[in-house]
Amino acid sequence: MKTGIDEQQELFRPIDLEFLNSDGAEIFDIFYKTSSFGSAQYVKFASSHPSHQDKVRRLIEEGENDQEFFIREEDLGKYYGLATKSLRTLISNPQIPFEKKTRKIYDVSKGIMKDFFASNASEKILHSSEEVMEIMEQCLSKNEAGFHSISMITNKDYYTYTHSVNVGLYCMSYGIKTKMGPNDTKDLGLGGMFHDLGKSRVDESIINKDGKLTDEEFEAIKNHSFLGEEILVSMQCYTNNVVRMAGEHHEKFKGNGYPKGLVGEEISPFARICKVMDVYDALTTRRSYKKAMTPFDALTIMGKQMVDEFDHNILGNFVRYMGPDL
Ligand SMILES: [Fe+2]
Ligand SMILES: [Fe+2]
Repeated sequence: MKTGIDEQQELFRPIDLEFLNSDGAEIFDIFYKTSSFGSAQYVKFASSHPSHQDKVRRLIEEGENDQEFFIREEDLGKYYGLATKSLRTLISNPQIPFEKKTRKIYDVSKGIMKDFFASNASEKILHSSEEVMEIMEQCLSKNEAGFHSISMITNKDYYTYTHSVNVGLYCMSYGIKTKMGPNDTKDLGLGGMFHDLGKSRVDESIINKDGKLTDEEFEAIKNHSFLGEEILVSMQCYTNNVVRMAGEHHEKFKGNGYPKGLVGEEISPFARICKVMDVYDALTTRRSYKKAMTPFDALTIMGKQMVDEFDHNILGNFVRYMGPDL
């Protein structure tokens, strides 16, 4: 149950000062947090009014600042619009190293997915991902980045939001390495990032449960494929490839997966790619109850015990193009 304080907090989201306009002209109000008698209060620091521009400019110039700033949730779209604009400037700058560029794009994507999963922001926030994925596609294809350089920047602690961004990047990198076109590659990135969206509609205590799941709980989790597909269809702006990645990423190549028990080529090729990346990321990240596997151990298990779950061609490509120095 939410308390009154939580309800107030839900309206505000922390921001990264780096993405504010360098001319100080913001298009939304900026707040800082104080607490009085144990309850959080958000106090306006600057508004979109021109008279406040100096304040914001000084804030940006000061750089490192311990104070956290916030905006209203309804302004997240505008904020990510600014972030995307600065990412475009960043990637077109040849002086900035590739790793710094991808790390920044990764951080923005992570912010969007965290706002969605961890803070229950509205589904509208997902629209911000589209341009960010397009920027990532440009950045990765231009640098012909391999899987190794991508895996250097991905978070190795498992949270639904970091897992989502990791799978999106791995899928995108697969598209680039196997020379799929830019649209398909962007679909792979988006679909990978959105594959577990349905988990936002499953009870959090089940999603985060450390111990063994009861049959009932497992059934509730399994529903996330269908729920994710439903969210994406209702948004009416994503391709069938993206939708099927959410709906079919738990299908197994030789059958017995869920939700439909599809077999082989009945499963969308995009979802078959997602399946490989999903399992790889789940195995190579840490959770409270398990260590992260090394890439070598993960690939060994995937190629032996789990081999029936994957499309052999895709798994083979993955090992060839993306495996760690193989
Ligand atoms: Fe899933
Ligand atoms: Fe997943």
